[in-house]
Amino acid sequence: MATVTIKDAVKTYPGNVQALHGISIEIEDGELIVMVGPSGCGKSTMLRMVAGLETVTSGDIHINGEWVNKKEPADRDIAMVFQNYALYPHMSVYQNMAYGLKNRKIPKDEIEQRVQDTAKILELEEFLKRKPKELSGGQRQRVAMGRAIVREPKVFLFDEPLSNLDAKLRVQMRLEIKRLQDRLGVTTIYVTHDQVEAMTLGHRLLLMNEGRVEQIGTPLEVYEKPQTLFVAGFIGSPSMNLIPVRLDPSGNQVILGESLPLPLNNFENIVNGDSSVTLGMRPEHLEACETENALMFLQVELLEKLGADTVVYGSLDQTDTALTVRLSGIHPVDTGDRLPVTITPEHLHIFDSDTGNRLN
Ligand SMILES: Nc1ncnc2c1ncn2[C@@H]1O[C@H](COP(=O)(O)OP(=O)(O)O)[C@@H](O)[C@H]1O
Ligand SMILES: [Mg+2]
Repeated sequence: MATVTIKDAVKTYPGNVQALHGISIEIEDGELIVMVGPSGCGKSTMLRMVAGLETVTSGDIHINGEWVNKKEPADRDIAMVFQNYALYPHMSVYQNMAYGLKNRKIPKDEIEQRVQDTAKILELEEFLKRKPKELSGGQRQRVAMGRAIVREPKVFLFDEPLSNLDAKLRVQMRLEIKRLQDRLGVTTIYVTHDQVEAMTLGHRLLLMNEGRVEQIGTPLEVYEKPQTLFVAGFIGSPSMNLIPVRLDPSGNQVILGESLPLPLNNFENIVNGDSSVTLGMRPEHLEACETENALMFLQVELLEKLGADTVVYGSLDQTDTALTVRLSGIHPVDTGDRLPVTITPEHLHIFDSDTGNRLN
């Protein structure tokens, strides 16, 4: 069991590639942190620095209070699971899981015990004699996890471990990892570019963009109060509608297009309408309503009838502002319709268009 503290971690690769500009987070004992962001934002670099596979340009990394910047990977008491499982093809499942323990001169009967226990947890008992090529993708991924678990590390590090699996298996393995982490209670850093994976797995998320932290928070915190335009657009599917608007000088409404006013109910922190602002509305928070209650009208251009919900794409009436609305269930809307929609003020997000920071 361990805490992990990352303080102002900076990474500059040779050739002056600035991969990380100062990442800080305190990870609690037993916590599962998901580092999430688009490809190239520095996730693997950060994880590899915690693992000791990459040098730290500046900043500090502590595992359980101990400064580990200069410690060899093997001495850090961590176990890492990668996307390409990196199993030894000529070894059986048992040998793959036992290999790291043999190298560490752990007695044979203890190795036997740990491999058997882990195989049981992961439901791999009947596959112990097989070679990796005789397993499915999901089973191989489980062996890779088994190899990490038998080492009884203080910290698990996962780098996109599910990206090679098909969609259905990914969902299943995601649940397994969550259950496993709950049960073992081992502090875990999990890296992914997939926001759904991040939302479902993490106790907290660290959202990263271009080597910087955009926000740290629980899944619901980042969903309900995204602190930046980047987070607003990244979390949620379909993505939040982000529309440039004018702030009414009164400060208690925004003006969309030429005239459409939208009431704000949480405007205390919004300081005068000098700077340009962006309005955020999640598709699932826009509701179809009676014409007389409409705050706006959507000119319907395209529909996705998914059964569980209906996604409506179009533009705001008499503007070319694109808008997406997600209605729950099967809705009798049709292409070409003029759909009256409304939204409650607490679901309006306001951002400074220049800095990208949340204003309400
Ligand atoms: N060994 C390296 N040498 C130079 N640049 C690198 C190296 N590894 C990664 N980078 C660069 O650092 C940035 C972050 O990469 P990476 O940590 O792999 O991002 P992610 O895992 O989020 O996709 C990228 O711009 C990438 O090109
Ligand atoms: Mg990566």
